[in-house]
Amino acid sequence: MERIRVNASAVYDVVIGSGILDKCGELTREVTAPCRVCIISDDAVAKLYLDTVKKSFEKSGFEVIEYVFKNGEASKNISTLTDMLEFLAENHLTRSDIIAALGGGVTGDMAGFAAAVYLRGIKFVQLPTTFLAAIDSSVGGKTGVNLNAGKNLAGAFHQPSLVVCDTDCFKTLTREIFLDGVAEAVKYAVLKDKEITKLIDTDIAETVRRCVGIKRDVVADDEFDTGSRQFLNLGHTLGHSIEKLSSFKITHGHAVAIGMVLASGGGEKEGITEKGTTAEIIDILKGFGLPVSCSYSAAELASVALGDKKRSGNTITLVIPERIGSCKLCKTDVAKLEEFASAGLEYGGQS
Ligand code: GLY
Repeated sequence: MERIRVNASAVYDVVIGSGILDKCGELTREVTAPCRVCIISDDAVAKLYLDTVKKSFEKSGFEVIEYVFKNGEASKNISTLTDMLEFLAENHLTRSDIIAALGGGVTGDMAGFAAAVYLRGIKFVQLPTTFLAAIDSSVGGKTGVNLNAGKNLAGAFHQPSLVVCDTDCFKTLTREIFLDGVAEAVKYAVLKDKEITKLIDTDIAETVRRCVGIKRDVVADDEFDTGSRQFLNLGHTLGHSIEKLSSFKITHGHAVAIGMVLASGGGEKEGITEKGTTAEIIDILKGFGLPVSCSYSAAELASVALGDKKRSGNTITLVIPERIGSCKLCKTDVAKLEEFASAGLEYGGQS
């Protein structure tokens, strides 16, 4: 079991290990006295892990209530959030009680948002069960729900009090869902640490530690996403367009994989990215079975990206690799995004 301490507006530990989900109760006792805990989960994850988590909390003196919603991105909306909040109120959860988010990114983001707004804020702990949630959404305090107009358009920054990441949970993921995490891990490799690409298949706990270590540093530097946290958007600007254009049939990590190829390809054309980097990224992604190209046009990709919340006035900040292990934030005129996407597509991003 290893701990990574996050120093943000709240200080908390990310505890990483194999088979540690049944210790979530005693670990939570380190951050709060016994109280009532509402475990929030979806019906697919609850079947697998709710019992273990409930027993662990009860053994450590917590009184448990459970809120389970339907699995899937379609549940991540204001209506589920309202229902969740009503459940907390009906069950008289107080400011000294806590929420435990058990599941992937949808659960963590929504349960975290409920914790941020219920009674103007209560504590919560993250128990990520997917590789993607473990290395990304469970750390850093971004919480929220989707609106009809787009993903994560309503939310709050609210740091968890603890993150418990049991890497054994990844064993029950489908290959497709595991690969969503792999793409984010490759993102950390391209941002800062090339060795991560070699660890994914050989040492998953070390992979999580390295990725969370990078995220910890980014969050400590720019918790509220006004500067360096934007590095975490590598592959996401055009990746989000791909997700949207596919009506979310192409999942987040898969879209980010293609988005990284486009960012690097566009960067090579602009002379920002070292020659050969895109080919190297493509090889790494293909090696894991991730996609590297899409069938959308540059005009479609740019038009959707410009409706995204990451746009600021007439510019959009793109994260562009210089080489694997180092990236740059580039403020780009919105009028140039289509040309950039087009260059990315030429470098192998088009199928
Ligand atoms: N998922 C990107 C971030 O936490 O900023």
